[in-house]
Amino acid sequence: MQIIVSEGYEELCKAAAKVVAKTINSKPNAVLGLATGSTPLALYKELIRMHKEDGLDFSQVTTFNLDEYVGLPKTHYQSYHYFMHENLFKHINVPQQNIYIPSGTTDNYEAFCDWYERRIKECGGVDLQVLGIGSDGHIAFNEPSSSLGSRTRIKTLARQTIQDNARFFDKIQDVPIYAITMGVGTILEARTIILLASGKGKAPAIAGAIEGPVTSMNTASALQLHPDTIFFLDRDAASELKMIDYYLWIQEKAPSFPRGN
Ligand code: PGA
Repeated sequence: MQIIVSEGYEELCKAAAKVVAKTINSKPNAVLGLATGSTPLALYKELIRMHKEDGLDFSQVTTFNLDEYVGLPKTHYQSYHYFMHENLFKHINVPQQNIYIPSGTTDNYEAFCDWYERRIKECGGVDLQVLGIGSDGHIAFNEPSSSLGSRTRIKTLARQTIQDNARFFDKIQDVPIYAITMGVGTILEARTIILLASGKGKAPAIAGAIEGPVTSMNTASALQLHPDTIFFLDRDAASELKMIDYYLWIQEKAPSFPRGN
């Protein structure tokens, strides 16, 4: 895994946006895995800027979102459908028919989850997956104790997650208890993964993910098994990493790493 530490939140998002843009520029019909939450907001802002000012073209891109709350209609102001439309899709040129987000209102969740998994494969698999991380180490809504081989399914949210996300709702009782989420196994099949984290509140989860054992108690730790994952962190999110000096040393020295001709 690669660890890139930036001074602050905006910078880490800009660094991550460069990876997204590079993926699209080298493969115009790339399949992107996308995340919601407060962390990717500045990443999406930068991608919108790149689309408007630099001509970053999403016209052949396909996107699959990680998760959605069960029970919220697409039009609900806290649904992830609404979030993605408002914060990214309505500002770029990704075709509507290329956008996939789990349904929070299907009448057959099992069949929907199977279809979602199949659709990802039919589209060629995810080239680049964007992730945030929960304060309990979750990726997507794979809460502690989720199987590291899990696939898209319904999960019961942890109390901690409900508390963390209550800030987006009028009151905590409005936070849905269930979500439909890609599994850890689904996520690990992405060719490249970028995980973004900012702030001291994420520092213990990040330390567990990067330096702890691989454990379902911190599902982000499963990324240690993935061959091409980049963590984009700010100083606060990186503040509990024991080997931070080494990661900064690598960051400084990597550009002159000897490579073949
Ligand atoms: P956040 O959520 O970006 O709003 O902190 C991250 C997550 O729960 O995955």
